[in-house]
Amino acid sequence: MSGRPTLRGGPAQPGRAGRGAQPGRAAQPARAERAARTPPPPSELVELEVGAVAHHGLCVARADGRVVFVRHALPGERVRARITDVSHDRYWRADAVEVLVASPDRVEPPCPHARPGLCGGCDWQHASLDAQRRLKARVVEDSLRRIAGLDLTVLVEALTSAAPDGLGWRTRMRFSRTPDGGVGLRAHRSHRVVATPDCRIADPLLASVIADPSFLQGPASPDRTGQAVELVAMPASPPDGEPGAVAYSTRSGRWQVVQVPAGEGGAEPEGQRSDSPPPEAEVQVVETVEGRRFHLEPGVFWQVHPTAAATLVAAVRDAAGAAPGDTALDLYSGAGLFAAFLAAAVGPTGQVIAVESDEAAVRSAARSLADLPWVSLRALRVTPATVSRLTGGSARPGIDVAVLDPPRTGAGREVMTALLAHRPRRVVYVACDPAALGRDVAVAAGEGYRLTGLRAFDIFPMTSHVECVAILEPTSASDPAQAGAVAGEHTGDAGQGVRGFALQ
Ligand SMILES: C[S@@+](CC[C@H](N)C(=O)[O-])C[C@H]1O[C@@H](n2cnc3c(N)ncnc32)[C@H](O)[C@@H]1O
Repeated sequence: MSGRPTLRGGPAQPGRAGRGAQPGRAAQPARAERAARTPPPPSELVELEVGAVAHHGLCVARADGRVVFVRHALPGERVRARITDVSHDRYWRADAVEVLVASPDRVEPPCPHARPGLCGGCDWQHASLDAQRRLKARVVEDSLRRIAGLDLTVLVEALTSAAPDGLGWRTRMRFSRTPDGGVGLRAHRSHRVVATPDCRIADPLLASVIADPSFLQGPASPDRTGQAVELVAMPASPPDGEPGAVAYSTRSGRWQVVQVPAGEGGAEPEGQRSDSPPPEAEVQVVETVEGRRFHLEPGVFWQVHPTAAATLVAAVRDAAGAAPGDTALDLYSGAGLFAAFLAAAVGPTGQVIAVESDEAAVRSAARSLADLPWVSLRALRVTPATVSRLTGGSARPGIDVAVLDPPRTGAGREVMTALLAHRPRRVVYVACDPAALGRDVAVAAGEGYRLTGLRAFDIFPMTSHVECVAILEPTSASDPAQAGAVAGEHTGDAGQGVRGFALQ
């Protein structure tokens, strides 16, 4: 076992490998040095000492001074890795194919398809769930440090009511047809479809559907290689729900209901087989959170883990601290999940303005929140202009509390600036990408808002994804608690005035 990587190449050189390095962010080598290197063939095996975790389920290693982002590895391991991508000047990619010295956090992946070169759906099946959460916490900390200049200690919380093995949770999935007519998921960073007939993170209802030969031969199954089918598990919603039913998109783009055979994840109501689906207009997925029902058109955004919506509602409500009579904003409001519970907090003397660009989601919200007339649903794109105008003509000018849950790219500088110009007393930022959170927190700092709380949740076990709920509040020297917290960021005054994390 050699102590050196076996890569050919030029002299070792500085880079930004180690803690904080990200694909696309490593240092740019000098042009002459780049030209002098001879990249190995992509399939070459190298031995690597694996360093810190990076984003996207990768760890950082070095080979002859070059940054190598390694998948299927863990920090502290020594692995034999196959180079998979040498197309970047600044870094290469590799898959650990053999573990020479294993991390104590390593476990046997529960899924046979979570292996180098196979399914790209999960990133951390080879780490214990506890270790997965620690890795995700480091990624959040790292993003906030590098991008927003904040030194925090983050704890990623397990969902209290989730399955303890981290499997069987994904209620919305997009499968594709394999060359031999089965269904599968894409390989990592590839269009290649890998057969996953027994995907271990799929909700049991979806697992039953893809394992059912009649589904694979039925009209809903994709009919050419690579064609996709979206499956949505429909939870039982007594008394009038469709327990055990699953909605899916057909190759013609329609949504239908398929019934899971009785005993394989759900009941089959008499006379409702997949060959007699109800008309498209009737297809609804009913999700229930704290007793409130949300009637969703199947394609609209909803949290994919069955207990994530309730967890996030509780965290957002607690973080927002909305009071009766407040005006609350819900940006990127989807089917009205947070708007509904903000409405309960502000009551009929307050108002909630919910902004969402997907008309199907707004229709779903209108159906679900019809009993809350003080919620104003706006089918609009969130832009600097729309955000600036939100309270124009409103009975109550000004925004007391704002919640935003943007897509992976984040809200961005202009939207953040327009939002914070309303000077809400508190902003709750729900983030599915730590880097976007870091960028928007940095913008907020420039607008006089500081991070005063952060919780992170493991709502996507086995993957590298993590969900954060951050609190931003105006920096105010006149508020002793806030002034203490500001100082704490730089002096090691742990946690004063801050919820959910300890400051270092
Ligand atoms: C992460 S989801 C959040 C939905 C909701 N908060 C929930 O938890 O169910 C983001 C939502 O933003 C919407 N969206 C994306 N870009 C948007 C934009 N520029 N303006 C308004 N809505 C947008 C998407 O349609 C999606 O419903």
